[in-house]
Amino acid sequence: MRAERASRPRRPVVDLTDEQARRALPLKWGTVPKDVIPAWVAEMDYAVDPVVMEAVQRALADGVTGYPLEHDPALGEAYAGWAGRHFGWAPDPEAVRAVVDVTAGVRVAIEVLSGPGGVVFPTPGYNAQHGLAGITGRAEHLLELPASATTAEIDLDRLDALLAGGAQTLLLTQPHNPWGRAFTRTELEGIRDVVVRHGARVVSDEIHAPLVLPGAEHVSYLAIEGTHDHAVAVVAASKAFNIAGLRCAQLVVPDPQARKALDAEPMARNDSWSPLGVVAARAAYDHGDPWLASLVERLDEQRTLLQELLSTHLPEVRMRPLEATYLAWLDASALGHDDAAAVALERGRVMVSDGASYAPGSTGHVRLNIATSPERLTRIVERLALAWT
Ligand SMILES: Cc1ncc(COP(=O)(O)O)c(C=O)c1O
Repeated sequence: MRAERASRPRRPVVDLTDEQARRALPLKWGTVPKDVIPAWVAEMDYAVDPVVMEAVQRALADGVTGYPLEHDPALGEAYAGWAGRHFGWAPDPEAVRAVVDVTAGVRVAIEVLSGPGGVVFPTPGYNAQHGLAGITGRAEHLLELPASATTAEIDLDRLDALLAGGAQTLLLTQPHNPWGRAFTRTELEGIRDVVVRHGARVVSDEIHAPLVLPGAEHVSYLAIEGTHDHAVAVVAASKAFNIAGLRCAQLVVPDPQARKALDAEPMARNDSWSPLGVVAARAAYDHGDPWLASLVERLDEQRTLLQELLSTHLPEVRMRPLEATYLAWLDASALGHDDAAAVALERGRVMVSDGASYAPGSTGHVRLNIATSPERLTRIVERLALAWT
């Protein structure tokens, strides 16, 4: 797949200027003072793929501002086509359901399909999903990755113990934010074996799947044999194509009984997605490959640049290899700042995400977003070095 990609047509990634980024990304750029470089929330400082933008503009010109279809077969076809081309595995298009966003999809899947037992949540874990188990009325069981671990892996013995203790769902993030891991087929098979032993369920958040970098591959949990009766995947074009604000993600539900249960949910759930999100997702899945190829190439270059910058300016900072995503998990604890993010902001004028929001109780860790220009990334690391050392 990767070799084929190299010879495919490309559409270039275009960097936003500071002014453009302030207009385009009000949360990431608009909430920080002008002298601060934002490298926090997971949005990219790149212009949206023109093919996706044109599709949305066309839809708006046509007045597509009403309710979306409840079930849009074209969306399932588009996702299945995409998954087959990129991951070598595709669901039945009929298994795909629209949801407003990935986090809502995770919540709905747990509420409707899971037993009342607790939810296992590997940490450090995506901060907006801490507490999600509680919203569904279930206990949250953290499966902690020790800070000293040289490779980030799900601890199967601990998973086994938590499921034996009454937890009934694993919230898997594949690839993982902020571990930067793309779990291998063998690892996923190990997880499946433990889950099946306890009759538990898996919700696999695969929003970062398009962002697997050279050297790793994305394997959907649903591509593992013997998973369809107990798992759903939650997917989206939103992270890779910078279109989260258009509001459409997808649940992949291979089990017909589970689909029936979800389809029977009352309208009052009111999690409806946007028709413009459907248009954008379909355009990305059907026509976004040339742009995504350039994006992955750029992120690969940014990851190499980050390693070089860290070894030059911040050799004390530890980082595990980044296999996927544009979000680097940095252990700066050797530099002695409990709240390294606050120091970065105060002294360095760089906004990174506080590690404690991903791993409660942790100190000295931050998450750094590298989806920007090489020049900005260079300034970011230089500023972090000035702030922390
Ligand atoms: C693992 C993971 N899931 C979900 C999301 C957010 O997706 P959504 O806005 O569709 O809920 C993110 C955002 O970065 C994420 O990292």
